[in-house]
Amino acid sequence: MIKTNKTKPRVFSGVQPSGNLHLGNYLGAIRQFVELQEDHECIYCIVDMHAITVPQDPKALREHVLDLASLYMAVGIDPRKSIIFVQSDVPGHAELNWILTCNSYTGELSRMTQFKSKSHGKESSPTGLFCYPVLMAADILLYDTDIVPVGNDQKQHIELCRDIATRVNNTIKETFVVPEGRFMKAGARIMALDDPTQKMSKSATNIHSTISLLDQPNKIKKSIMKATTDSDGEIRFDVENKPGVSNLMTIYSVLSGESMADIETSYRGKGYGDFKKDLVGVVQESLAPIQARYEEIRHSEQLIRDLKDGAERAGAIAEVVMKRVKDTFGLGLGM
Ligand code: TYM
Repeated sequence: MIKTNKTKPRVFSGVQPSGNLHLGNYLGAIRQFVELQEDHECIYCIVDMHAITVPQDPKALREHVLDLASLYMAVGIDPRKSIIFVQSDVPGHAELNWILTCNSYTGELSRMTQFKSKSHGKESSPTGLFCYPVLMAADILLYDTDIVPVGNDQKQHIELCRDIATRVNNTIKETFVVPEGRFMKAGARIMALDDPTQKMSKSATNIHSTISLLDQPNKIKKSIMKATTDSDGEIRFDVENKPGVSNLMTIYSVLSGESMADIETSYRGKGYGDFKKDLVGVVQESLAPIQARYEEIRHSEQLIRDLKDGAERAGAIAEVVMKRVKDTFGLGLGM
């Protein structure tokens, strides 16, 4: 058994600071972050080193880091209950990344569907994109994490992290806590509004494909009213045959707390227009308080203080784990 200094199960997750968070990020992942902080020790990271796997403007990246930190807090992550910090402020992530790179295989990394889709059709891709899941494993293992709340698209990365941790534990020495992924029953995969066969994504080119948490009421209305549905006119949850309507119903249900059955009953005999109009209201009302809090936090001096404090607290945990990892591999002088 690994000796850790935890008093509660530990949660770790991260989000890339690559533009504004959308409803998929919120409903699939960040909503869980808020829930979990009540009875877990939670560590939430802004993964700026993952963001540079694709080219970034340095000034804009720093701004996006602060935008994301403010959004974390605006949705309800409390920096006094949870640790919020920037990945590159804790050097252990890069250090452990290398050690895990030496304990992972090109074969398993080549099977990652996210790498396959991002590199599809290209003769060559940045090595960082290929090794992205190893850095993600380092993020998680650096904190003796028990639970990783994420959306469905990260399932394969979590499995890889578990495989690497188990491999080191079994073949070298018991060193890592093997984490579990945590996925929402509803909302773990929110689809694009313009194409419900694709997940909602930050990299979408059509602005009406996503709803950002900072979208203004008019933009929310336009995107929802334009959302792709189908031609049978019935409000019924059926992901296979009615992916567009089912996606909109999921957003409605999760934000309003109403069950799918109640939504189906309320809209029996009504058309998509009525349902979409009400969904616009539900989304606008859910996002308005987040946006108001965001504006207060984003330019406050407390924001930087909270991130520095978060990095110190995260760094202290990481240091203990890194000492154990270095001992396992015989790195450094062991002092
Ligand atoms: P990122 O920044 O792409 O997404 C952040 C979180 O949002 C979830 N998500 C979704 N959930 C439901 N529907 C969607 N359409 C949707 N799109 C995104 C993602 O699953 C994720 O949970 N690799 C991670 C960042 C990361 C990380 C980590 C996560 C780096 N290190 C360690 C957990 C632990 C990512 O790309 O997130």
